[in-house]
Amino acid sequence: MANILLTGGTGYIGAHTAVFLIESGHTPILLDNFCNSSPKVAQRIEQITGVLPKVIEMDVLDTTALTEVLKTEHIEAIIHFAALKAVGESVEKPLAYYQNNVTGTLSVLDAMQRAGVHHIVLSSSATVYGEKGVPPMREDAPLSATNPYGQTKVMMEQIIRDVAVAQKDLRYAMLRYFNPVGAHPSGLIGEHPRGIPNNLMPYIQQVAVGLRERLSVFGNDYPTADGTGERDYIHVMDLARGHVLAVARLLAGNDSFTVNLGTGQPVTVLQMIHAFEQASGQTIAHTIAPRRAGDVASVYADPNLAKQLLNFTTEYSVNDMCRDAWVWQSRNPNGYEDA
Ligand code: NAD
Ligand code: UD1
Repeated sequence: MANILLTGGTGYIGAHTAVFLIESGHTPILLDNFCNSSPKVAQRIEQITGVLPKVIEMDVLDTTALTEVLKTEHIEAIIHFAALKAVGESVEKPLAYYQNNVTGTLSVLDAMQRAGVHHIVLSSSATVYGEKGVPPMREDAPLSATNPYGQTKVMMEQIIRDVAVAQKDLRYAMLRYFNPVGAHPSGLIGEHPRGIPNNLMPYIQQVAVGLRERLSVFGNDYPTADGTGERDYIHVMDLARGHVLAVARLLAGNDSFTVNLGTGQPVTVLQMIHAFEQASGQTIAHTIAPRRAGDVASVYADPNLAKQLLNFTTEYSVNDMCRDAWVWQSRNPNGYEDA
């Protein structure tokens, strides 16, 4: 049982992972600068688990302070979630993205070396497969990116691989998430993006509660089952459990590894709309719109390596994703502002 630092720990995926870590007997410590999250999430985690996790307000760019935290909290592993993640914004503000995500990762690795911490789990993304990959995506596919956000993830991975060559005792797990959706079934924690959502599920959720009028379906002429884009949506509960398995594998002394976390099942935009309508009893007003620049027809995981290395398979269905997203959204239409 280990003390594990979660950078970006009060964010969407970090909060769900904290719940699983606590339930597995670990002690997560949540470090965040709250640029895209709320400290109120800690009380919600306590409501779910009975344990109030420690929250530290800090920027990962502050290497000196981070090093101190690693030492004083006796940290054995870091899960590095902290990053900016909006693709469109990264095109507008590339410097902010490279500074926060790439320099932030350098700072984390530097602090780890200074404090003698040897295990890191990185939040990577299916975005590293670029636009030329042919699904199902395998971990040994060539990496590329089509926007600054994606570039930062390619770079973050590469930096960690290079540092691990030089530092023989460093062990890493790169987790390439496909499309995380849903919420804890209690409806106490979930995702509430600031501003207009870029991603499909948060947009659907906001239409369902009346925050947005209608969804634009970006293209219906793709070579897919119904012409709309296909993605591999993974319930955040499954994703969070994958982190516990990954960190346990590292702490058990195994070698570094890189795995996809996805279901392996493609789901179209229209299928997701219908599943959400079924789960929520709401009608999701939608209009077919032109394709979104940079989108591809189909992206889904080859989930076999995660099964082999971590014995990881997903347990939640698309209907579960929609049900839990709806419970969260309908109880917290304004996110943690309602707390
Ligand atoms: P999120 O925005 O909810 O969480 C990220 C957290 O990091 C936020 O709480 C934010 O305040 C914090 N943060 C950002 N910069 C920081 C800094 N410099 N110092 C301290 N804290 C900082 O996002 P999420 O969906 O939970 O994503 C977590 C990670 O997973 C990110 O690295 C993201 O790129 C990656 N990822 C997310 C998705 C997705 O669709 N949600 C998909 C693939 C990969
Ligand atoms: C997004 C990110 C990608 C990230 C991935 C995982 C973009 C451009 N890319 O991609 O970097 O790794 O999430 O979280 O943001 N759609 C609509 N209407 C909408 C929104 C989306 O029809 O309002 C469609 C899209 O065209 C796509 C599908 O829904 O076919 C999923 O879109 P989205 O949720 O943005 O995820 P990705 O495109 O996979």
